[in-house]
Amino acid sequence: MSRRIVVVHGPNLNALGTRETDVYGSTTLEHLDNVIRALAAELDLDVTIKQHQGEGEIIDAIHSAAAENRAIVINPGAYTHYSYAIRDALAAVAVPKVEVHLSNIYAREAFRRRSVMTPVVDGTVAGFGIDSYLLALRAVAAMPDRTRH
Ligand code: DQA
Repeated sequence: MSRRIVVVHGPNLNALGTRETDVYGSTTLEHLDNVIRALAAELDLDVTIKQHQGEGEIIDAIHSAAAENRAIVINPGAYTHYSYAIRDALAAVAVPKVEVHLSNIYAREAFRRRSVMTPVVDGTVAGFGIDSYLLALRAVAAMPDRTRH
């Protein structure tokens, strides 16, 4: 059975390709999602992709992922820096969790240099543009499925 995984894009990532292209690049979310699906197929990952603007929807997506035993690859967008509610949702679930950022948040404005998610995920990939997502998929594929025996 394929490893199940959900990729959750947070707020404003729908505008990828037109939004601050000097920082985030000119790739659209649609193209990114196609690249994610292609790599997932290669790695035998059963992938679902979601994009939500709101904190509550992201929290629901995290709990649904756990209920379906889906590993989580998440780019929480600006929530990264201050949403204790999303952090608590991630802390509450035992599936593999990888935090992703297109940009290197540690090399940007002071408010972006702190992620409240980092302490409650298995690892973080930041700074490689859309490749950050692909590296995260590879990380999940290499992690043990805790429900397999
Ligand atoms: C981001 C970085 C965040 O600071 C920002 O608010 C985003 C995107 C990234 O992917 O680099 O929306 O998470």
